[in-house]
Amino acid sequence: MCDSCKPKFYITTPIYYPSDKLHIGHTYCTVATDAMARYKRLRGYDVMFLTGTDEHGQKIETRAKTAGITPQQFVDNIVTGEKGVLDLWKLMNISYDRFIRTTDDYHVEAIQKIFKKMYENGDIYKGTYKGMYCTPCESFWTESQLKDGKCPDCGRDCQPAEEEAYFFRLSKYAQPVRDLLTNTDFLEPRSRVNEMVNNFIDAGLEDLCVSRTSFTWGIPVDFDPGHVVYVWVDALFNYTTALGFMNDKYDDYEKYWPADVHFVGKEIVRFHSIIWPAMLMSMGMPLPKKVFGHGWLLLDGGKMSKSKGNVVDPYLLAERYGTDALRFFLLRSFPFGTDGNFSNELLISCINTDLANDLGNLVSRTVAMVQKYFGGKLDPDQFYNAAQDNELVTMAGSLHERYAAQMERYAFQNALSEIFAVISRANKYIDETAPWVLAKDEAKRARLACVMYHLLETVRICAGLLQPFMPDTSAEILRRIGAERSDWESLCKFGVLASDAQVTAGAVLFPRIDAAKELEALEALNTKPEEPKEDPLPEPLPPVSFDEFSKVEMTVVKVVACEKVKKSEKLLKFTLNDGTEQPRQILSGIAKYYEPEQLLGKTLVAVTNLPPRKMMGQESCGMLLSAERGDKLHLIMLDDAVPAGARLV
Ligand code: ME8
Ligand code: MG
Repeated sequence: MCDSCKPKFYITTPIYYPSDKLHIGHTYCTVATDAMARYKRLRGYDVMFLTGTDEHGQKIETRAKTAGITPQQFVDNIVTGEKGVLDLWKLMNISYDRFIRTTDDYHVEAIQKIFKKMYENGDIYKGTYKGMYCTPCESFWTESQLKDGKCPDCGRDCQPAEEEAYFFRLSKYAQPVRDLLTNTDFLEPRSRVNEMVNNFIDAGLEDLCVSRTSFTWGIPVDFDPGHVVYVWVDALFNYTTALGFMNDKYDDYEKYWPADVHFVGKEIVRFHSIIWPAMLMSMGMPLPKKVFGHGWLLLDGGKMSKSKGNVVDPYLLAERYGTDALRFFLLRSFPFGTDGNFSNELLISCINTDLANDLGNLVSRTVAMVQKYFGGKLDPDQFYNAAQDNELVTMAGSLHERYAAQMERYAFQNALSEIFAVISRANKYIDETAPWVLAKDEAKRARLACVMYHLLETVRICAGLLQPFMPDTSAEILRRIGAERSDWESLCKFGVLASDAQVTAGAVLFPRIDAAKELEALEALNTKPEEPKEDPLPEPLPPVSFDEFSKVEMTVVKVVACEKVKKSEKLLKFTLNDGTEQPRQILSGIAKYYEPEQLLGKTLVAVTNLPPRKMMGQESCGMLLSAERGDKLHLIMLDDAVPAGARLV
């Protein structure tokens, strides 16, 4: 069928924050989306599978500052760097069709147009955002963000304050969104609907603050400099800008929008099922057909995080067990809509039971027997006698129906259970028919061939339907049994495999894991983090007298301005407040370690009774104290509460 005649299927994952290393929990949604995308392709759809990264916001700005690099460098590292997001999707064999980064130019421009359109239609208006303000930190906080009533960053008192901001008229859309959630299948599982309606809509939907002025790492509101677009407005519209909505980069909006389904984690269902449809209504755009809120993978009953050790490192797990085993485990072990508890025991037992014992054994026994009794090729045409083996033929021949019914409702676990019920039945069929007994009797050769064909054909159908879950393993199994077809039509029928298909042996697909040993090995990996190599300690210095020491004047200073010295790779020029009326200028050779912007407002220590010196033609009055070890250098920074001019004693 030509591409343009095919039915379309547009599916998305959330776009990830590149603020942390990704753990196995993060791969959950993307693996599920990949399985669905592959399933739909198998069914003959023209699929658009979108994923990407959500790269703006204060959190990333702050992380970058701490790391001493620009926000763009910071996100580039995590997205395109070694073991970054792109690497991870390659490792997990994710077949996305498009990858969007919200820092891409076309997206930025489109968001500016979208924001302006909602402003012009009156759904975005300028108002005042009320909150608590920490003057030294120049930060706005909501009451709930305060820590014991104080600034969560510096611990000082905050004052109630107001700031100009843009708001989206979310309240206007409360009723239409409520109708959407309660009267349609827009949001699934249904259990999430009540939560949204009761906790958010019926509790009173307030207008949403959609711009910020307290940081700059975001998409600027082009008609009001100083404001950046709220990261969720920026992020949600990715689903449309990635198709070319309001930009020239792509031309697929008409073709694929509205999305068939957005897969999202439960904690962001609110954004996708309330704010997203409301904004689309405001823009006059069609709504996505469905939002599916999946559960979390938990670790020891709590939210997963990298700090819990490398048991959740997808690279380590894929290296030990293989990508397909990991993909399979994620979708086989937990229902997609609810939380599931991840553990190494569960992972190992899933691999041993389903993959090594059931699937692996069926394939290896079948292939080995065709090799042994027939030299790899059945005697043609004398064996297909379905009547004697009705149960297996019926089960395998109708598997596609039960499987599809589950896949269409995103019930991956159930779809796999259907396949594994047939695999178990086939293993039992081997025991019942006892091919090794048949093989001893030349008169039963036709019967033996019939049994083997039933097994091969069952393996073909199961491997074919496993393609969305374990693409490489399925391809390998199909190759070994000499299957030429694994298209959907061929998986709906028993008896498609050529009677003279060439069967080839191969290595064990999933070696059995010694669970006790493996758990011990994982434990050891977890408790032995690599010791960071320490630089050698500097040589001790000869003693000084107390008198000599106390002649050094060390003063607390605040950075008023800081810039690079032209033509110098080393020097930064500081303008400092040392408590006196006169600003003090100091040059310091630390340009390699700090960006000037990072140091603005910082509280440092300077030696202030050294004779002035000229460096690169500029005067330097004193020296900033820093600590050095190996090739690392840190300026001595004090708590900002220490006033300028205070003397170190
Ligand atoms: O939320 N188990 O990005 P994100 C299952 N940028 N899923 C998990 C998980 C776990 N342990 N941990 C995380 C964002 N996830 C936004 C999305 S969309 C317009 C913007 C899932 O990187 C989480 O539920 O914090 C979410 O769906 C996805 O990983 C990305 O999370
Ligand atoms: Mg999150």
